[in-house]
Amino acid sequence: MVRAILENKEYDIVLAESSVTRLRSLITDRSNVNINIYKDEYLGRRLKVRMRAIQHKSPEVYLNFVERNPDEYKKLVSVLTINVTSFFRNKQTFRKISEIVVPVICQDKIERGEKKINVLCVGCATGEEPYSIAMIFLEQFQKAGKNLKLKVIGTDVDKKALFTAVKGVYSPDKVSKIPKRHLQKYFTVVKNGFQVTPGLKSSVIFLKKDVFTHRVYSRFDFIMCRNLLIYFLRSYQEDIQEGFYKQLLPGGFLVLGRTESLVGKGRQLFEAISISDRVYRKISK
Ligand SMILES: C[S@@+](CC[C@H](N)C(=O)[O-])C[C@H]1O[C@@H](n2cnc3c(N)ncnc32)[C@H](O)[C@@H]1O
Repeated sequence: MVRAILENKEYDIVLAESSVTRLRSLITDRSNVNINIYKDEYLGRRLKVRMRAIQHKSPEVYLNFVERNPDEYKKLVSVLTINVTSFFRNKQTFRKISEIVVPVICQDKIERGEKKINVLCVGCATGEEPYSIAMIFLEQFQKAGKNLKLKVIGTDVDKKALFTAVKGVYSPDKVSKIPKRHLQKYFTVVKNGFQVTPGLKSSVIFLKKDVFTHRVYSRFDFIMCRNLLIYFLRSYQEDIQEGFYKQLLPGGFLVLGRTESLVGKGRQLFEAISISDRVYRKISK
């Protein structure tokens, strides 16, 4: 399972299998991050990011340093949970969400005489993804002229990223992908950029949860989990996808990242609505 040697010619860092093993036990002993679900390649790459940042060439010396230095330990944990994201990331996927997922969910609620729509956004990082989804739903509510009620729950393990999400203030370059009319409607200009309006904010909440160990016990119409499962070992991906199946209401939608896919049992639990955009729908049994 493990690569014997992971090499980086650029900075000449050679990682032995034992370094990744040591990294795993260091994190297991000291934090509640479930390190076992991550692939070795991923852990190796992230370890090197920190080593390069502080110009350490020897993994063993670096890990000794981490053991003695709580500050560096925190930095290492935070690079393990990289949180690159953006508003409306992967335009094509968001097009499918606004053309198919959102209208179908809303129409279904209207036909049933129900009002509440629940969305779970797993690995939401600094909040751009859940706010993007919320804007699409709120626009659809207006189009349908119905008084539906939206709750989007964004979850992540990274406290610092969630702090930014809750604050809801983004720099001008971060909001550049937001359609102008949405920016004007759902953001106000503040000193350091653009702040999410109270109206948009009231539809979105953030919780610190590990996708593997802390499930959110609600039933959802739509779960989005992008660019997270890719870092996990296949067997964990399968368990998580089975968990999503249980958390979804009948006919609920699941959207994964463009480089991710259903694995193992997951393939029998969902039908593909758009394979290229990783949009799936729960098969009711
Ligand atoms: C690359 S970002 C993806 C952000 C967003 N979903 C997107 O695609 O734009 C991955 C996020 O997953 C979070 N993460 C990593 N491990 C996690 C875990 N075990 N449970 C929940 N979130 C996790 C990271 O902190 C990070 O914010």
